Amino acid sequence: MYKITLLVLFTGLLWPCEAQENNTFLSDFNDNPTWTESYNGVWKSVVNQPQEVNLLNTSGSSPREEDLAKIEGSKFPLEKTEIKAFSKNGKTYIRLPLEDGERIFGLGLNFKTVEQRGRIMRLHMDHYGGKDNGRTHAPTPFFVSTSGYGLLINSAKYIDVYMGTGVTKDSKSPATSRDRNTDKKWTAQPKSDNIEIIIPDDGVELILFAGKNIQETVQRFNLYCGGGFIPPKWGLGFWQRTPTLYGEKEVQEEVDSFVKNNFPIDVVGLEPGWHSKSYPCTFEWDKTRFPNPKPFVESMAKQGIHLNSWINPYVSPSSSIYEKIKPFTATHTVWTGIVPDFLVPEAHKIMTDQFEKNVVSLGISGLKIDEVDGFDRWLWPDYAQFPSGLDGETMRSIYGTLTQKWSADMYRKQNTRTYGLVRAGNVGSVSLPYVIYNDYYKHEDFITALINSSFAGVLWTPEVRSSGSSEDWIRRMQSVCFSPMAMINAWADGTKPWSYPEVYEYCQDVAFLRMQLLPYIYTAFSEYYFKGIPPFRAMAMEEGFTNIPEIIEQGDLNSTDNPYVAALKKEIKNQYMMGESMLVAPMFAGQKTRTVVLPKGKWYDFYTGELIGNGGIITASHGLDKIPLYVKDGAIIPMMKQIRNTSEWGNDTTLEVRVYGNQPNEFVLYDDDGKSYDYEEGSYTQKVLKTTVQKGKLKGSVSKITERETWSYGIINWNFMTK
Ligand code: GAL
Repeated sequence: MYKITLLVLFTGLLWPCEAQENNTFLSDFNDNPTWTESYNGVWKSVVNQPQEVNLLNTSGSSPREEDLAKIEGSKFPLEKTEIKAFSKNGKTYIRLPLEDGERIFGLGLNFKTVEQRGRIMRLHMDHYGGKDNGRTHAPTPFFVSTSGYGLLINSAKYIDVYMGTGVTKDSKSPATSRDRNTDKKWTAQPKSDNIEIIIPDDGVELILFAGKNIQETVQRFNLYCGGGFIPPKWGLGFWQRTPTLYGEKEVQEEVDSFVKNNFPIDVVGLEPGWHSKSYPCTFEWDKTRFPNPKPFVESMAKQGIHLNSWINPYVSPSSSIYEKIKPFTATHTVWTGIVPDFLVPEAHKIMTDQFEKNVVSLGISGLKIDEVDGFDRWLWPDYAQFPSGLDGETMRSIYGTLTQKWSADMYRKQNTRTYGLVRAGNVGSVSLPYVIYNDYYKHEDFITALINSSFAGVLWTPEVRSSGSSEDWIRRMQSVCFSPMAMINAWADGTKPWSYPEVYEYCQDVAFLRMQLLPYIYTAFSEYYFKGIPPFRAMAMEEGFTNIPEIIEQGDLNSTDNPYVAALKKEIKNQYMMGESMLVAPMFAGQKTRTVVLPKGKWYDFYTGELIGNGGIITASHGLDKIPLYVKDGAIIPMMKQIRNTSEWGNDTTLEVRVYGNQPNEFVLYDDDGKSYDYEEGSYTQKVLKTTVQKGKLKGSVSKITERETWSYGIINWNFMTK
């Protein structure tokens, strides 16, 4: 045996190989994809023969043509001959150029990094496991470059990305070869001048977006993928998810305790215990915990409370639909539950009927769709087969989107908006009203994920569960109140906002501040819908952070006085923008101070209206009572009174419009009925809040630009914060 092995090895070594001149990897890269402009600044290319199913065509979304047309056109942002592609042996290879100094953002919902140059990733749907290796809840195959473009790889396969790591021998701008023995500048990762992408398929559809800056590129990407959405108003209020085994009585007590403790609440989340069995689920009420579901839901509604129900879509053998749906499910099970194939009309209908009967018709406002991401050892394997003909890998990449779409459609059918939670999303779900969450619990990393969600076409909540200290608790509560969903997820521990009495007052302050800011936040979501601008977004989308020529204009790049040097050299992964003009800089347990990098221009303290800096880096030293918040010069921030429930945000709500700095400005305030999809048909109101200089002082005025359809506001009080 030993001898035979040696012989094989030996013969193998000597086997003569003829060099194949025309068959090398590098010469295959001579093909240039053909690009066709589909919309202003958006080009598409189909390389060879991709599989029919992709991330976008399974999602039911289509490009927002009219809104894309409103963004000024642009020329093709790259040298076409520099983009190469070819397919061979079931794989498709793409190569793009990478300039010195070019910066790359995106590649999914990462938790530790914002800049992606120099990384190797396999984009793979999964529960985030602590490393930015491509396995995450939204492994979106989209990146945006400071070279004025973004690329979407519309494939539902696991995609390998070498983001500036591969160094080829035919490089146009080769790395300097150095002697490691003597040269201190030797590096294990020499410069790469390319981006290489490998798709395990016979072809791929590519979409390339131009943009005069990062934000514009992202806008085009979002609008192309269906555009953002506007949540129902109640969805932006405060959420409390209750412990798993809570029943009607405990949920009512929970709501009463929020009233008694004077804390905002709009939504209560029911966790697995509402099902008669869960993991896998029956999607049928447990009669011991919920003897009268319909009257219970109605009584909650009378108190202004919307209910959200947890599910995973895996059907329990005890469910009444089990036998009926079985032929339309996957070869493999998840926790013994059968896995519906939502692409097969029969499975889609059986699930719809079950949910319309037991959930939607009762008045439950939406779902929390759990466990549709991973882990490998729980989910179906990649070789599983689905009745629609899809393999496990493709289905895993789109399952989150399919379940979002299936559930959102039940609400759309009755012209009611929903807002829910999900653990998996992708480019197909940009327009679907869901927020991603997970079980990972690092506060700092939650903020980095919030930043990255703005490049990934998804929303993210840094949900709050428990805490090791009251300091950690209040810092987390402050962050979550400045996110798409302000939520405590107490499913395991029953934590309440007042569980840490020392800081309860500060919890109340920040929760009420969120409620006051809802007119501003709601308007930010309207910009997501109309223009594709993420309501919570990375600093890289602000001018002055990525635009290198402008940064150089600020002064010498080598000077320590130039604040943007830091922004360029270090990733900004702990501060972000909310809406048009507010910068949020969360603080974390253990911090007494933190630095904040201000984009160029004057910035003001949100709480006091004081000038805080003109570009540059500042130090925030807010005590536990406040989260650092800054606003741009000229910012106009519409706010309302402190409310506990969004049902109080109704007719003739008095507005307090805060104005910061001295720049005249305009803010287009958005409003609609807050609950139906009529806004998509033009049923909404926008009014311009405008400041002008009169006799050396700023004055405010309001003018309407659309007919009054719905308008919640009455008297407007202007508050000029900067004295
Ligand atoms: C987890 C989920 C939690 C909670 C729990 C209930 O998978 O991430 O938020 O819902 O299930 O069992």
